[in-house]
Amino acid sequence: EGKTELSEELVASQEQQQDMESLPVPSVQAMVAATGEADVPPRYLRPAEAVTGIVNGEGEAQIPIIDYRRLLLELDRRGEESARLHQACQEWGFFQLINHSVPDDVVEGMKANIQQFFQLPAETKKLFAQERGQLEGYGQLFVVSEDQKLDWADMLYLYTQPPESRNTKFWPDQPVNFRSTLDRYSGAVKEIADSLLATMAENLGLKQEVIADRCVGGVQSVRMNYYPPCAQADKVIGFSPHSDADLLTLVLQVNHVQGLQIKRNGSWFPVRPVEGALIVNIGDIFEIFTNGRYRSIEHRAVVDPKEERLSSAAFHSPNIDATIGPLKELTADEDEAYKTVDHENFMRLFFATKLEGKSFLDRMKLK
Ligand code: OGA
Ligand code: NI
Repeated sequence: EGKTELSEELVASQEQQQDMESLPVPSVQAMVAATGEADVPPRYLRPAEAVTGIVNGEGEAQIPIIDYRRLLLELDRRGEESARLHQACQEWGFFQLINHSVPDDVVEGMKANIQQFFQLPAETKKLFAQERGQLEGYGQLFVVSEDQKLDWADMLYLYTQPPESRNTKFWPDQPVNFRSTLDRYSGAVKEIADSLLATMAENLGLKQEVIADRCVGGVQSVRMNYYPPCAQADKVIGFSPHSDADLLTLVLQVNHVQGLQIKRNGSWFPVRPVEGALIVNIGDIFEIFTNGRYRSIEHRAVVDPKEERLSSAAFHSPNIDATIGPLKELTADEDEAYKTVDHENFMRLFFATKLEGKSFLDRMKLK
């Protein structure tokens, strides 16, 4: 039954998307440069409660820290760390991964290249701007109407895996080693995601192949975020509350400014990045695959009043032929709690909707 509903929505969203193709997407960075950040246009102003909410500051435990090197030990020696990973996935949906295998020079190269890219003159960045009806490039995502609120951020979004999905015209050729650095980073991070997924499958009592087979030729995209400072930081949002649509996201904190918050027990909880760690989170597809055993977690990014913030998220999804629905191996003795749709339509619907917490995933739920 869920199927008809979703395809009707898809048709509606495609019509809407045609309408929005002409919507101009201003660069917040350029706007700030031109007008000064004290002057916040109404499209960016949020009601006070939307920005602050209850922020759980001091006294709370850090999100779990998982040691990648210990996960790679032989089966009989990695048990303890695997169990901690299982707990982190069940109870937090977020963790920080230390001792990961991305070489230092690649991490530092990514940070430098992303910072340098956003420092380029506006006309140069525009060479890589999103085109009508497309997601990739420099600009903004989830802009579906004239009157919706906008995030206080610019971004560059690129498909990175499989390599043949790359659209190099959107890949900046300056700074000069942007492309080679992103290529190395993409490969290294994909390897980590695949390895984490293998351990997670094992932790769920699945054969590794159940997830791995769906990730042969799996899709990876990288989103680089630039959040300009805002003198009225308490009136704007850098990244609206959302859960990621993918299986697993790996986030690199690019400069020292914090801003990521996760929703936990009804309040917002700031993530304090550990030096050198990657922040990992469960996405909607993982929640659907596991019929809710591991859940995607709502998160958002707030803006700093004085300093710019930069981050980069690598999203990992199954290959485009994989069906998105609860895994049969996990639903032998229970009802399926989510609809089953093909991957392409799942993604199309996701990007056709304004981000609003976990409302997209709610529409995937069977009553
Ligand atoms: C994202 C995201 C948060 C951040 O790109 O999906 O949630 O810290 N980013 O910028
Ligand atoms: Ni996210």
